[in-house]
Amino acid sequence: MTRPEHHRSHPNTEVDNEVDTPALVWDLDVLDGRVRALRGFADAHASTLYFSVKASGVIAVLNRIAPMVAGFSCSSPFEAQLARDIIGPSSVVSMTSPALTHAQCSVINQTCDHVSFNSLSQMERVAPALAPSVEQGIRINPGFSIVEDPRYDPARENSKLGIPIDQLLAAYEGNPGKFTGISGVHIHTACGNRTFNRLIQTMELIEAKIPALLQQVRWFNLGGGYAFDKVLKSTAFGEAVARLRSHFDMDVIIEPGTSMVQNAARVVTSVVDIFKTKTAIHAVLDTSVNHMPEVFAYQFQPPVRSARRDAGHTYILSGATCLAGDIFGTYSFDRPLTIGQRLAIEKAGAYTHGQSHWFNGINLPAIYSHSVAGGLSCEREFTFEDFASRCGSTR
Ligand SMILES: Cc1ncc(COP(=O)(O)O)c(C=O)c1O
Repeated sequence: MTRPEHHRSHPNTEVDNEVDTPALVWDLDVLDGRVRALRGFADAHASTLYFSVKASGVIAVLNRIAPMVAGFSCSSPFEAQLARDIIGPSSVVSMTSPALTHAQCSVINQTCDHVSFNSLSQMERVAPALAPSVEQGIRINPGFSIVEDPRYDPARENSKLGIPIDQLLAAYEGNPGKFTGISGVHIHTACGNRTFNRLIQTMELIEAKIPALLQQVRWFNLGGGYAFDKVLKSTAFGEAVARLRSHFDMDVIIEPGTSMVQNAARVVTSVVDIFKTKTAIHAVLDTSVNHMPEVFAYQFQPPVRSARRDAGHTYILSGATCLAGDIFGTYSFDRPLTIGQRLAIEKAGAYTHGQSHWFNGINLPAIYSHSVAGGLSCEREFTFEDFASRCGSTR
């Protein structure tokens, strides 16, 4: 008799039983698949693929991605230095940040190929300090929202991200000479978008407002924020790229983060306590939402392997800190959980490592990588000394 799917042991369970928890375990085979899919997408649409390092700066991950992309896109001088170390001299390091300063330019000049200014004021202060080798771009806020939740919407009213397009138009018409050094345009207005349907409208809007500026630029960076792998067959993206290439002869760049790494890592955690309250049973974990801060910030429930709706044993999976709201959510399992049992919180590849912190002194997840060919390796463990040093200890 065939056993039901949920009773079969998952192929990663063996690996998960070997790691010290909490652990962030990267599946390099899954990562390779993602990178190949996105590379295929970019190639099929004659566009250039960067990886957005903010989604994960884990060295083993960057090393795996680097040979398959044309560049890394970054948000700070630290990220840019890391990116340059990994990607080498012949690929692109690009950067945009609302907090770029004149003082950062010596690092930027040594590490970056593209910098996109976030505001006109930033451009005025920073541009004179940039080396001629750094291509200057501008990040535009087209003011056309394609994300419903304002917490994620870079194009929302009064957004801090990008030069409002009407402001840019007025500045350009007032003094086009101010923009002669600009050779690129950057937009990033999506977040978790599963279609490119509104990209064409965004492009039409930008083209209608600043055609002369577009004529002079060499590259157009469309940002990240799309579930690119979900829409490999979409024609809307192809139309947007064809439009930019035929109207303006530009290099079109995409810089996904989430869709490259999200599904390639899991947080493996151990159950450390189980107890009943009035109407619920808690399973306390040795991890915390501070290891996956987007769970708390955006109140979403990540998938947990082997949990299934309507199974008979239901628990609140609770994080290890004093914060009452440090919970992952309510999950049901076919069999009762036990102390010491490992659970895998899936879809932890994006914005987990970079945003995790040491609240309550709960240790950060150790970083592991695994592939069928290379086996399991521990990339980094964190110790009391790491924690104490961050607290200022010099012992
Ligand atoms: C400028 C820029 N580019 C790319 C990305 C990557 O977005 P995602 O991880 O949603 O693909 C972000 C994310 O915030 C971003 O701000």
